[in-house]
Amino acid sequence: MRDWLSFWNAPNRIYVNDRHRDVHYRDVALEIRSLVSSPAATVVDYGCGEATAAHLVAQACGRLILSDGAPAVRDKLTARFQDNPRIAVRAPEEVAALPPGSVDLIVLNSVAQYLERAAFDDLLAGFRRLLAANGRLVVGDVIPPHTSAATEIAALMKLAWRNGFVGAALLGLVRTLFSDYRALRGKLGLSHYTEAEMLDALARAGSRRAKRLLRVGTARMHGACFAVLHGPRLCPTLRRSASG
Ligand SMILES: C[S@@+](CC[C@H](N)C(=O)[O-])C[C@H]1O[C@@H](n2cnc3c(N)ncnc32)[C@H](O)[C@@H]1O
Repeated sequence: MRDWLSFWNAPNRIYVNDRHRDVHYRDVALEIRSLVSSPAATVVDYGCGEATAAHLVAQACGRLILSDGAPAVRDKLTARFQDNPRIAVRAPEEVAALPPGSVDLIVLNSVAQYLERAAFDDLLAGFRRLLAANGRLVVGDVIPPHTSAATEIAALMKLAWRNGFVGAALLGLVRTLFSDYRALRGKLGLSHYTEAEMLDALARAGSRRAKRLLRVGTARMHGACFAVLHGPRLCPTLRRSASG
């Protein structure tokens, strides 16, 4: 595998089974839904992955744009949601071409670690252009430096325990030792950010009110810096406080 997008574009065993995948995406969808500010809102879930519970977000907003850089992921999303009139599946370049100020909420969850820093900065600049005056960007599952494997294993086992797939999770952990994911992580690494570095990147992109949210709900948001970038021109007071 040459790069992370090739990894995500190919079949992978990142979720230990369908139950793991579905409870993960259900939890992510519920988190995103809680951030939607109005039933008319346009929401972009960028680097959305399989987003198997995206309909839960679509129920709460006017339009949900699912975007992923991997064409194979987009094909699956299109097949899954073709009958949902509120959901559109778009390539990143199609998102970049949306009219300025046309998006109320952009979510980037568990994606920043797969982007080089310069690419992340470019993405933030593009998001700034897309956000409506009071729009928000939420960046979730940002991995701080020195996050230990034990933290990730504990998060998986907690999710597995709560959702009844402990056996599959243990098997998945063994499989991970020999996986493409582990090999690629060793070769390419991930982009890590301290809270200060993430807030600085958001500030450079024009945020005057980026802030860490301490309430993180899902397993994949474990240990995450969950930062918020308000729309560039108007910065209303955060409605969600750090205590959620
Ligand atoms: C770990 S998954 C996260 C999926 C989902 N957001 C979640 O919270 O579980 C990372 C996703 O980001 C996508 N991705 C990686 N690099 C990307 C890029 N440069 N542009 C758009 N999507 C990208 C991958 O294809 C993959 O589906």
